[in-house]
Amino acid sequence: MDKPQVLIVDDDRRVRDVLHEIFLSNGYKCLVAQNGREGLEMFGTARPPLTVTDVKMPVMDGVEFLKAARQKDPDAAIIILTGVGDVKTAIESLKHGAHDFILKPVNVEELLIAAERALERRELLIERREYQVTLERRVEEATRDLDAAYTKLQDTYRATLEALGSALDTRDVGTQSHSRRVHGYSLSIARTHGVPGHQLEDLEQGVLLHDIGKIGIPDAILLKPGPLTPEEWKIMRTHPEIGKRLIERIPFLRGAVPVVWCHHERWDGTGYPRGLRREAIPLAARIFAVADAFDAMTFDRPYSRAISFAAARTEIHRCAATHFDPAVVATFLSIPESLFEDIRRRSLEP
Ligand SMILES: [Fe+2]
Repeated sequence: MDKPQVLIVDDDRRVRDVLHEIFLSNGYKCLVAQNGREGLEMFGTARPPLTVTDVKMPVMDGVEFLKAARQKDPDAAIIILTGVGDVKTAIESLKHGAHDFILKPVNVEELLIAAERALERRELLIERREYQVTLERRVEEATRDLDAAYTKLQDTYRATLEALGSALDTRDVGTQSHSRRVHGYSLSIARTHGVPGHQLEDLEQGVLLHDIGKIGIPDAILLKPGPLTPEEWKIMRTHPEIGKRLIERIPFLRGAVPVVWCHHERWDGTGYPRGLRREAIPLAARIFAVADAFDAMTFDRPYSRAISFAAARTEIHRCAATHFDPAVVATFLSIPESLFEDIRRRSLEP
């Protein structure tokens, strides 16, 4: 290991020589200065880890030197030499960052112990700071990794939901992209209606999964070409309950429950499964109902031809306050048709 370097600053030549001799014979490399200013110049160039300085000196005294040196290098280990009559200055110097002070006349052993201790303390301070920097960097990296993983998880999860949504579409309605269009319409109505951001996420999930309960409906009923018998309708109408039971225990899907469970409720209480009325129906489900009906009317289905956007708007307007929440209908009608056309066009893109 390199010998540590010590800077000796004292205006008294005899003291300088003695200190020089002590440090030299104990394996230190020495720099010697006659006053604070000279010492500071040497300090600036050599950056010695250890400095021993007298207090009372011409040109620049020890405390001034100490302040200036600590500004250049906050890790500098500096020991103050002081006479018995000047303990006050010594204590002052500790406040300004001196590592220790030693009373004159100098006791060799005491000086060497103080020097070693000051160097050790300096090392510890540097190590601690480096450790802190490393720690902060690691925390930063970990946070970044976590963010990336979270985003990836969100993407994967969204893709899974979309895949599930379109799988459900294909099985039931027989039209591609039903979920994607209703998703676009619902979001656009919800935003215009002033639904806050976190509720939009729940709404999105709910839209994509609204008919997930149809998984539990037998194909003979779900895919029946002709009209359903009253008994078959009864079974068909259990799909919101089935869907709710399917997803309510999955924490990251729980936000979808209101739409899954309540998307067939009607404003006037004639819907199912519970016959909820008005505001008892979750807002997300009331918004979905308008978007879903709009898409059902304006897109060809196996047993019904599409009608124009304008005709569908009129029909939805007619059903405000019976089938639909009139406030949601008002929001829906305030959105220009061109926006819905955009959404529809985009939903057909791959
Ligand atoms: Fe449904």
